[in-house]
Amino acid sequence: MNIELEGVEKEFRIGGRTLPILRGIDLLIPEQSVVALVGPSGSGKTTLLGLMAGLDSPTRGRVLLGTTDLTGASEEERAAFRARHVGFVFQTFHLLPSLTARENVQVPLELHPDKPAGGAGGIRRRAEDLLARVGLGDRVDHYPAQLSGGERQRVALARAFSARPAILFADEPTGNLDRATGAGIVELLEELNREAKTTLVLVTHDMELASRAGRVYRMVDGTVQREGATTAAVGGAGEG
Ligand SMILES: Nc1ncnc2c1ncn2[C@@H]1O[C@H](COP(=O)(O)OP(=O)(O)OP(=O)(O)O)[C@@H](O)[C@H]1O
Ligand SMILES: [Mg+2]
Repeated sequence: MNIELEGVEKEFRIGGRTLPILRGIDLLIPEQSVVALVGPSGSGKTTLLGLMAGLDSPTRGRVLLGTTDLTGASEEERAAFRARHVGFVFQTFHLLPSLTARENVQVPLELHPDKPAGGAGGIRRRAEDLLARVGLGDRVDHYPAQLSGGERQRVALARAFSARPAILFADEPTGNLDRATGAGIVELLEELNREAKTTLVLVTHDMELASRAGRVYRMVDGTVQREGATTAAVGGAGEG
């Protein structure tokens, strides 16, 4: 599924002051592509990811996922759209503390309108299989508080993959992981992109991960600039 942003601006109001964070972003991310978003801390990467995923609304401008305009949609409509099509790995994971690792991974499958075959057993097996693939086959019954930081991150990744979303947004998916574990996560992301044709939008400081992306965008003064693009290609959103 492709992602299209038109004149997207985002301001926050804090103590009577208006803080402009995103200042007019036009972007077309083609379906099935892998895009990395880089930039300094506080430059608006997480804010932009949240807008693209329909977690929040822009102050001005439009966000389209496929042919669906999220901008005019209600909170409920956006939630229903996300449950069907979008996976999200939060920078701070957002696991549900009262659910085990396996139960956390099962949530998107249980909420999805097309459930896997085999009922509750099928859902359980799919969750356990995904946890095994992120190296947590022997941690399925642990609660988040009983997992290390990197293990929680891997549960969050397994959860984001579980319903095979058309678009996956991941905020620093390899940020807290050692090299080998991070490389395993990158492989899993690439497999999802290849097999489920998932569009990947990754925020990362990891240059190894960024180098695997087809396109790298850098946040500059509240806008995005394509890295390595020639002057002619900058702003040429229709290419590709
Ligand atoms: N809900 C909010 N209310 C007010 N200001 C906010 C809000 N969310 C983010 N900001 C501000 O917007 C700016 C961009 O935040 P954002 O989280 O998008 O940065 P980031 O690029 O993801 O940074 P990092 O690399 O540290 O995660 C920051 O200066 C932050 O303080
Ligand atoms: Mg961030």
